[in-house]
Amino acid sequence: MKEVIKVRGGRRLAGTVKVEGAKNSALKLMAATVIGAGCSTIENVPDIADVDIMAQVLTTLGAKVERGDHKLIIDTSALDSYETPYELVAKMRASISILGPLIARYGCAKVAMPGGCQIGSRKLDMHIAGLESLGVQFETSHGFIHASTPNGLHGADFMLEFPSVGATENLMMAGIAAKGETIIDNAAREPEIVDLANMLNAMGACVEGAGSPTIHIEGRNDFHPCVHRTVGDRIEAGTFLVAGALCGDGVTVLGADPKHLNLPIRKLRQMGCEVETGDDGAITIKRHGEIIPADIQTLPFPGFPTDLQAQFMALSAIANGASVITENVFENRFMFASELTRMGADIRLEGHHALIQGVRQLSGAPVASPDLRGGAALVLAGLVAEGETVVSAIEHIDRGYERYVQKLAALGADIERCPAL
Ligand code: EPZ
Repeated sequence: MKEVIKVRGGRRLAGTVKVEGAKNSALKLMAATVIGAGCSTIENVPDIADVDIMAQVLTTLGAKVERGDHKLIIDTSALDSYETPYELVAKMRASISILGPLIARYGCAKVAMPGGCQIGSRKLDMHIAGLESLGVQFETSHGFIHASTPNGLHGADFMLEFPSVGATENLMMAGIAAKGETIIDNAAREPEIVDLANMLNAMGACVEGAGSPTIHIEGRNDFHPCVHRTVGDRIEAGTFLVAGALCGDGVTVLGADPKHLNLPIRKLRQMGCEVETGDDGAITIKRHGEIIPADIQTLPFPGFPTDLQAQFMALSAIANGASVITENVFENRFMFASELTRMGADIRLEGHHALIQGVRQLSGAPVASPDLRGGAALVLAGLVAEGETVVSAIEHIDRGYERYVQKLAALGADIERCPAL
């Protein structure tokens, strides 16, 4: 049954919210369990739709997935396939993260080609070029990628053209089983890369330098299951920090590492918020004065995260002046802007730039989530809009946010989830 999120603006938020484990790590940690045959446990897993889909990908391969409270027990002892079906990959492009693990374990894989999505073409050329440097041969036919390693996997020194998160992850997961040393240059440095490297090392791999632009891998041939706790979700945390920036009288976010949010926190302070970080990793935000406009450039980590771009655009929309947001990571990640305009925002798009002229107040309206982060940002805009905002297509939000409505309501928002009319 289709549902919508209704939010009525005007409330102030206060209190503490605990974020879950990172979606953009948990999905890859799940895929990595294929490498070590046996029973692995992943803790701090968010209860979100994308985890359900990755669990289906694993069970399609023959794994057994048992779900506990934010915990997965995954038994990959008896996999009986190395093929991932189109309908699952089409639902979630992150399924492509199964490519590296299948190649590491079986030396071959058959994965449906993921389509593009609303935010861009989401190509795979860097994944393929990197894996080819390790000896993988590819054929594409009938919408599937067929990977094989007729001469086995061998180490290589490969430089990524762009620090692609997914390509870095697939290269790491295949590289740990390659004969000899692999060096990944211009590697992605996201905290989720470090989290995955830590789990691979716990499985018997030898990965050094994750989090830096150069990752060194000493190939091994014997991997075992492990127990691993997913790193906290910096993007979910950043989303709630923006909620606090919009209408917070002291919102405390627990569960993420403040060091993973250096630039967003700096931006929030520039925009007039008071942000305190505690020794326990708690981040507390409040704002009483006006929102000061600030320009934002999205970049690979440690640059400003593209996954917080829409949320900060909602904040800029009611700043006291003009801001420029430049999207450098994806080619088409401004669809949220057109929905926000329907709420009265004054935004002009010029290529990769969004020119935002702050308005005094947004007005509640029926809007549709264009994608995961845009949907979450529309709800944030509704928190400060005059009247009621009805957000539809909220299945996008459910992909990456656990109990988003409940968490905002617990902070004092006037918000509910209800059947679409
Ligand atoms: C991951 O996507 C995240 N998804 C994205 O989060 C995040 O926005 C992105 O990293 C950047 O941080 C998951 O981890 C599941 P990329 P990924 O490879 O790995 C281009 C969210 O909202 N590219 O770093 O797909 C690509 O098209 C999602 O949680 C190539 O051209 O990102 C994009 O423009 C959205 N060829 C840019 O690089 C390739 O072979 C960055 O992509 C690979 C990527």
